[in-house]
Amino acid sequence: SRCPAPDHPLHLSSASNTQDAMSPSHKLPKDFIWGFATAAFQIEGSANVDGRGKSIWDDFAKLPGKTLDGGNGDVATDSYRLWKEDIALLASYGVRSYRFSISWSRVIPLGGRNDPVNQAGIDFYSKFVDELLAHGIQPFVTLYHWDLPQGLQDRYGGWLNKDEIVKDFTNYAKICFEALGDRVEHWLTINEPWCCAILGHGRGVFAPGRSSDRSRNPEGDSSTEPWIVAHHIILAHAHAVKLYRDEYKSTQKGQIGITLNGDWALPYDNTPENIAAAQHALDFAIGWYADPVYLGFYPPYMREVLGDRMPDFTEEEWSVVKGSSDFYGMNTYTTNLCRAGGEDEFQGNVDYTFTRPDGSQLGNQAHCAWLQDYPDGFRQLLNYIWKRYKMPIYVTENGFAVKGENDMPVEEAVKDYDRIHYFQGTTKALLDAINVDGVDIRSYFPWSLLDNFEWADGYTTRFGITYVDYETQKRYPKESARFLVKWFTEHEDSE
Ligand code: NOJ
Repeated sequence: SRCPAPDHPLHLSSASNTQDAMSPSHKLPKDFIWGFATAAFQIEGSANVDGRGKSIWDDFAKLPGKTLDGGNGDVATDSYRLWKEDIALLASYGVRSYRFSISWSRVIPLGGRNDPVNQAGIDFYSKFVDELLAHGIQPFVTLYHWDLPQGLQDRYGGWLNKDEIVKDFTNYAKICFEALGDRVEHWLTINEPWCCAILGHGRGVFAPGRSSDRSRNPEGDSSTEPWIVAHHIILAHAHAVKLYRDEYKSTQKGQIGITLNGDWALPYDNTPENIAAAQHALDFAIGWYADPVYLGFYPPYMREVLGDRMPDFTEEEWSVVKGSSDFYGMNTYTTNLCRAGGEDEFQGNVDYTFTRPDGSQLGNQAHCAWLQDYPDGFRQLLNYIWKRYKMPIYVTENGFAVKGENDMPVEEAVKDYDRIHYFQGTTKALLDAINVDGVDIRSYFPWSLLDNFEWADGYTTRFGITYVDYETQKRYPKESARFLVKWFTEHEDSE
């Protein structure tokens, strides 16, 4: 079984453990993986270089009104050119690992299984992995971080076409396993499928920008497409994992899984309907993906709300989907107070707020409206996931955007005390979840190594622990980077 044995150190009970969790003698588990995370489209730039094809984000970002500042991915943090500098920066931080994503359209410019493979794209990631390893940094690789090749969107509607996308994604995954699998021990299939489904095919605010809102989007059906897209993403993920397990795992010996976004949900108050609402919020955000992948069913509440708009898998498909992840990949940022009776179907008809019944705020407000600093929610979410899915957890993203940071001069922006406050809370929550609650957590990747292209926010929202001056592409470590590096150094089990 995947659960640690009862005599495993992770089973320390809270009673036997009176040490202060912040004290350096209270360590992270041996072989704990830490580092920073990024994604290809958010950092690479060089959109037309070395044979790269277009992704759905290239043109989408350039449509009027799609990004807050009109920003796009043509240059970003110029990391395709500055890759050696980025790795040197990682090395200067002393990270154990780096989470980055591969651009599908660099590897297969048109995307499909019968389309030409671009050797220059493969070579880039191959030398990138070599350089990381030369610095003692383990690659933690995401295959799909939202940048679908435009060719597949144009040809058959991308994620809406089950048979085609499952085959094409699996083929793309195979090329990556072949090219890099001898050196990569951790693979993530898909990053935050919820965003592709809800933001890309429901609200229409992310590429490919489909929704029923005709004032903003020429095409789409918000009442059906998000549920269909999610269904196909889960199946594509599962087939890539099956391929890895059948053909590569015995020789390459890596771990592979999906990574899901999901924030903690607290009832707004103690009324039974709001207690139920918090669970409903979790069903629609997390259970939607995690229940099928780890438990083998869709949340019953989703079928209750969506009726026959909620797709189902055949028995044969379920046999591929259930158990299709070696671990639980967790991206999490905040906590929502949940109230029943909302009309937002994408949130399971639950209303979200950060304002408590007494008018106080849950935590410190970030630059983006959806994020407040509430570390106890992180600890509770870790416990919920561990109890419900019983899988080792890799925290693959967690972070904070300081209010107004983009308007500050660099000297001020690097003094990111609100971000430090956030990470002080989350690192303590992480350690308590491990050492007090006994949750099996294997990694922690703050988002992000660099300020970068924050999707619909363009460059206005900065999540980096390194400041990027987009004019000069100079990188400036923020105080939060120093805090985190010191924290990890003090809490690593170095024996
Ligand atoms: C989720 C995504 O995976 C990442 O691309 C994004 O920049 C961060 N969270 C912050 O919103």
